[in-house]
Amino acid sequence: MTSAKKILCIGAGYVGGPTMAMIASKCPHCRVTVVDIDPERIAAWNSDELPIYEPGLDQLVAAARGRNLFFSTDIEAGIRENDIIFVSVNTPTKAFGLGAGMAADLQYWEKTARQILAFSESSKIVIEKSTLPVKTALAMERILNSRVNGVFFDVLSNPEFLAEGTAVRDLEQPDRILIGSRETESGLKARETLAEIYANWVPREKIITSNIWSSELSKLVANAFLAQRISSINAVSALCEKADADVTEVARAVGMDSRIGAKFLNASIGFGGSCFNKDILNLVYLCRNYGLEEVADYWESVVKINDYQQERFIRNMLGAMFNTLAGKRICLWGFAFKANTSDTRESPAIFVTRRLLEERAEVVVSDPKALKNARMDLAGSAGRVSYVEDPVRAAEGCHAIALLTEWDLYRHLDLRKIFETMEKPAFIFDGRNLLDHRRCFDIGFNVYPLGKPPLTHF
Ligand code: UDX
Repeated sequence: MTSAKKILCIGAGYVGGPTMAMIASKCPHCRVTVVDIDPERIAAWNSDELPIYEPGLDQLVAAARGRNLFFSTDIEAGIRENDIIFVSVNTPTKAFGLGAGMAADLQYWEKTARQILAFSESSKIVIEKSTLPVKTALAMERILNSRVNGVFFDVLSNPEFLAEGTAVRDLEQPDRILIGSRETESGLKARETLAEIYANWVPREKIITSNIWSSELSKLVANAFLAQRISSINAVSALCEKADADVTEVARAVGMDSRIGAKFLNASIGFGGSCFNKDILNLVYLCRNYGLEEVADYWESVVKINDYQQERFIRNMLGAMFNTLAGKRICLWGFAFKANTSDTRESPAIFVTRRLLEERAEVVVSDPKALKNARMDLAGSAGRVSYVEDPVRAAEGCHAIALLTEWDLYRHLDLRKIFETMEKPAFIFDGRNLLDHRRCFDIGFNVYPLGKPPLTHF
């Protein structure tokens, strides 16, 4: 067990909140505080309704909150009173100026660095937890160590690899913990201090260290590799549809090669989420900055295939439904970017809805957890959108169902009953290959899976 530590996390989002809850749970001798500028968000963390939905998180927070886990808006006191500071503020893709649409927007992050500098009265370890462009830690160090007042900061990079929906499990049993530091005496000491915290529950051989830049780059590259697998199988799904092959069979055969592995080979309507697009575009921007045009183009193609896959889905719908969607009611099953989360950031469902509205379709959005976010995402969209949580009622009177998120509940619905309430001919477009397509067809649906021949009655 490590000595008692006072830990702060700036930023109470998807990464900061769960990560700190896990540290508090596994290190009862440490005191963990999470601060954020948003009072509503902090109030939610202090309530029974947490601001994010994540299996197992409620229990984790409830057990530690008030004991050694605290949520507060007092950033100044937090910085003053703690020795170890995680920075987990959001770094969206820049929406303006140089690098717009590509580079990371570092304004929140830099503001945080300046706050740490302004309020610190003693030396601290500052840990970069947000995904940031490579060499950002250097900028952080420069800002923090710009004033000589006896206060010294060690900056570490400790990227988070948790995935939404499985955050608690990923935090509890991570594949690895990566800590990047300067290779100076003080950098190595800071690295060990952080490693000791994780060693309370993570086996030592899974805690790996590197220099800061390798650590920062590893996060971008890990996400780029994962996204690349999805774009690869999605590109193959387009070919399978033309060549009468079945993408699930191809993925199975390919994935059994132990060098390739079976995970992350599910063809889909495309990847979403807050990380993949952002991190790849960040990587592309970095490569372009270094004049590596070919390398940049290579990674950018992963995003291009993802965009193509979403547009292809709409075109398949249009083609199947006699080249017009105008006035037709289309029900979306799922709006979250993946199952078991309420998160809709970069969800392909946003694109699909916008495109359907452009085609003058009426859209009924259904999702067990994400309707609140869906309403916000679509607030500016002109056209007719309604929101119905129950997937059975949502499909009533619709011409088609488009399954966009792989929620388990869609596997267990009474499809016969649903079919009876729909307009005919009734269509299912399965953007996740989740349903039993043969059964849907036998009930009477015209079925359009991804990367497999359609099953149609005409
Ligand atoms: C990802 C990384 O997995 C995680 O390590 C990193 O820290 C943050 O980004 P997350 O965005 O939560 O996590 O979700 P992930 O499970 O990786 O899925 C990303 C997207 O890919 C989802 O839209 C998902 O539906 C899609 N996906 C995933 C597929 O389309 N096919 C697959 O086979 C796997």
